[in-house]
Amino acid sequence: MQATVLTFSLLGLDPQPVHVEVDSGRGIAQFNLVGLPEASVRESRVRVRSALLQLGVQLDEYVITVNLAPADLRKSGGSFDLAIALGVLGALGRIPAERLRGVAVLGELSLSGAIQRVRGVLPILRNVYTLGVEEAVVPQGNAAEAARVMGAGARAAGHLSDVVRHFTGEQPLPFVEAPAARAPTSQLDVDLSELRGQHAVRRALEIAAAGAHNLLFIGPPGCGKTMAARRLPTILPPLSDDEALEVTAIHSTVGLVPASGILSERPFRAPHHTVSPVGLIGGGEPIRPGEVSLAHLGCLFLDEVAELRRGALEALRQPLEDGVVTVCRARGRATFPARPLFVAAANPCPCGFHGDPSRACVCSEERVRAYRARLSGPLLDRMDLQLAMRPVSIPDLVGGAPGESSTIVRARVCAARAVQTDRARRGEVRATHNSVLTAADLARVARLDAGCRDLLERAVDSLGLSARAYNKILRVARTIADLAGCGEVRNEHVAEAIQLRLLDRRVYAMRESAAA
Ligand SMILES: Nc1ncnc2c1ncn2[C@@H]1O[C@H](COP(=O)(O)OP(=O)(O)OP(=O)(O)O)[C@@H](O)[C@H]1O
Ligand SMILES: [Mg+2]
Repeated sequence: MQATVLTFSLLGLDPQPVHVEVDSGRGIAQFNLVGLPEASVRESRVRVRSALLQLGVQLDEYVITVNLAPADLRKSGGSFDLAIALGVLGALGRIPAERLRGVAVLGELSLSGAIQRVRGVLPILRNVYTLGVEEAVVPQGNAAEAARVMGAGARAAGHLSDVVRHFTGEQPLPFVEAPAARAPTSQLDVDLSELRGQHAVRRALEIAAAGAHNLLFIGPPGCGKTMAARRLPTILPPLSDDEALEVTAIHSTVGLVPASGILSERPFRAPHHTVSPVGLIGGGEPIRPGEVSLAHLGCLFLDEVAELRRGALEALRQPLEDGVVTVCRARGRATFPARPLFVAAANPCPCGFHGDPSRACVCSEERVRAYRARLSGPLLDRMDLQLAMRPVSIPDLVGGAPGESSTIVRARVCAARAVQTDRARRGEVRATHNSVLTAADLARVARLDAGCRDLLERAVDSLGLSARAYNKILRVARTIADLAGCGEVRNEHVAEAIQLRLLDRRVYAMRESAAA
């Protein structure tokens, strides 16, 4: 007898239908599995055999052949187990094979028959109705995720025996629970008000959030770089429902979905500086998203960025520019979105105290130059905002009043973002964020009067800035004007934007003298 069960494999975020075809016949025990299964899928036979045994189903007198179609698609992971087990039961006549039609099945089996949660349920089921699927059976552990995208079309199961009872008609499986509304933003565990003093840092965070500008902090150990960066997502506009689904789909592929089935906050990813290029950008087999994609629509924070492997930083260039990562492998191309707000932090020198008035730096001038040379080029060029950070003063830390809360700052950020969205909607610019305005856009929406132009040209001249830096300053000035609710870009906006590029001069000077 034969039975077919539908399941899915993921390539990036794209679900690929896999038909599990099972044939059974009497004979000396055999369990063949074909259709390009990787080791993790081949091991499925052991799990399925054991789980079926728990239901009293012996395979000793059967020749079982399982074909995973299409045969040219490489399959990996344990999510085929449940489909294979149901296919075997259908082929043995233990459940009606026709009941399995139009049902998508996902789940890994333990030896006892318990159904374990799997990765990628949300992206797999997201558009599953358009593929002619009417119903899905998913692990209990993925129920919330499935409910987010399938509503009442999905059923959740904890044990193989429950699924069997469902298909034999003895006891239908429950539909997945309709999830509660997404957690409100007040449930964040950190707040900008905890960052004492540091007015310049708070201002830079606000500008970064308002215009989606990349941000670099340079400062000694313990001055609060990580603390500041960690609070950036709390002042970004809340995730819309569509954005939340987009981000959760990426996190689902690596099994990082919260119990509610959907991310309620923008992600904050802070990989260690030893992260590999693949870890940062994505790749591997099976292909998984890198940190830059896991941080999509949130923040990617790279601490100790000067210590990062050179290749990793270079690899980051393309995604930061294009907003997507494409990974090519023998089995196909996977694309992941990658549009995080990028925040980097570095010490000013290997010991961290170069230029610190309170502690002496123990690095040789040579080492400081070599260290800073690593910050320059691709990295520095891409940072719109660059801030030299000092430790908070003790009076500010212990006695100062708390600064504005994230809620207050976020309201200003949202207002500035709304101005940018309106400009795009009116067709004045193509970009929805100031950080990606083109030179032509800037000529329209960041026109400077003669005084402003003179100020900017003198700064560019005296600081030795590049043409790229010139436009970056204009973009930041546009954001500062938007935060101030100002239609035109004025002197004070340009002046503040120049202040936020001053590190350029120090680091470039160091690099040039290193090269000389
Ligand atoms: N402005 C501040 N307000 C309140 N607490 C602060 C402030 N600055 C630093 N701290 C305290 O100092 C601790 C260390 O800060 P943080 O880890 O952010 O420093 P860092 O600059 O990232 O250091 P490193 O270079 O070692 O990574 C924080 O956890 C916090 O308790
Ligand atoms: Mg830190």
